[in-house]
Amino acid sequence: MRRGEKLVLALIVFALVAGVVNSLLHKEGKHDRDIPFYSSATHDEASVAMDIYRSNGCKSCHTLWTLQDAMQFVPAPMLDGIGSLRTEDWLYSYLSSPNPQAILPSRLKKQYQMPSYATLPEIQRHELAKYLASLKVKDWYLEQTKKAEYEKLTGLEYKK
Ligand code: HEC
Repeated sequence: MRRGEKLVLALIVFALVAGVVNSLLHKEGKHDRDIPFYSSATHDEASVAMDIYRSNGCKSCHTLWTLQDAMQFVPAPMLDGIGSLRTEDWLYSYLSSPNPQAILPSRLKKQYQMPSYATLPEIQRHELAKYLASLKVKDWYLEQTKKAEYEKLTGLEYKK
């Protein structure tokens, strides 16, 4: 190998190693270790709402804080971060509707669809809606998801 070629090879190896190290460092960055979801509710609001959540079987269909009944698989939406998508009013109306599919259409079999919680005491529907609205997605994650989705769909580079 000639001197010039050696130099080029050395540069290529250096660039590769630098690239790998850089991507590793990036992966170790604070974002990737963070849980991208949070709740702005107080401890008491959360524990009241989670009691209602558990005792009404929400957990048998939905995932929230990585909790889901292991025995069942229902293709229901994950509820982490739902408050970044829906307002408290929307959530309250949805839970109070005698026919939730009139608000959010479903392609699932009846047994998997969102049941009506219209008969749940009004105060509990309020507590649930308030808590669900407090479940947010962190901004960086939303941005990252938008970017990944955009690039997957268009094949173009995403610019803010
Ligand atoms: C039998 C399964 C099942 C149970 C039990 C259930 N859900 Fe659902 N839920 C679903 C499905 C499936 C959807 C998506 C709409 C549909 O297909 O009807 C949904 C939709 C939702 C949505 C709207 C999500 C969005 O993308 O806007 C919220 C909020 C929600 N459920 C909250 C709850 C809460 C709170 C409980 C308990 C009080 C609960 N669900 C119980 C299956 C269920």
